[in-house]
Amino acid sequence: MRQKMAAGNWKMNGTSAALAELETLIQGQHAATSELLICPPATLLSRAAELAAVSPVAIGGQDCHAATSGAHTGDLSSDMLKDAGATAVILGHSERRADHSETSEDVAAKTKSAWSAGLIAIVCLGETLAERESGDTLSVVGNQLAASLPDGATGQNTVIAYEPVWAIGTGKVPSLAQIAEVHDFLRQALTTRFGTEMADAIRLLYGGSVKPGNAAEIFATSNVDGALVGGASLKAADFSPIIAAL
Ligand code: G3P
Repeated sequence: MRQKMAAGNWKMNGTSAALAELETLIQGQHAATSELLICPPATLLSRAAELAAVSPVAIGGQDCHAATSGAHTGDLSSDMLKDAGATAVILGHSERRADHSETSEDVAAKTKSAWSAGLIAIVCLGETLAERESGDTLSVVGNQLAASLPDGATGQNTVIAYEPVWAIGTGKVPSLAQIAEVHDFLRQALTTRFGTEMADAIRLLYGGSVKPGNAAEIFATSNVDGALVGGASLKAADFSPIIAAL
């Protein structure tokens, strides 16, 4: 059985004061049975990891460089994230694909780096509105999955997050049938590539405007193992009920 997972992506939000939200979240999660992750901005990583050290909440990064070290001003290596207390890293988020021209090949290289540092790679995929409207959703996410995920993916080192670009931060959510269609397709693609046992161990998260009010129905959808949450992960009062719906 795959363990359910709720991951919060704080994106470029939060200064020191935001750690109070993490503390509040942690206080309410002593009996958590699902895997919980908060990915704060890199400036808060170490302090967040210290706060969450003896708690069910793990801390993750939002990106890493493919190289282990070197002349890459402004970048962070997977080893640095690990050293700061991260156990996971989000890779290939659509905002990085769009803002930093990251290709799926870049994401694959970063994924290998994350694995070599012992981090869980949360590999993000998703179609734009234009791609959905032209009926290309499955081919887009299928190609992204194939090219972003190197050989060697397991349930321990990899989580896939399906995040339709048009649903991120917009309040628009695909129908449950649309979510099921993509998640079933991704599970099948993983099965074809890695075999049933491995494919069945890899969690598939849905991301895009997940809120306390829609979390339960999304989590009850076929092949949805949890969520990658943006805006609603910034406040413990919003993220806690999402966790409770897992
Ligand atoms: O990575 C999470 C994300 O992109 C979804 O953001 O704000 O729509 O929950 P949001």
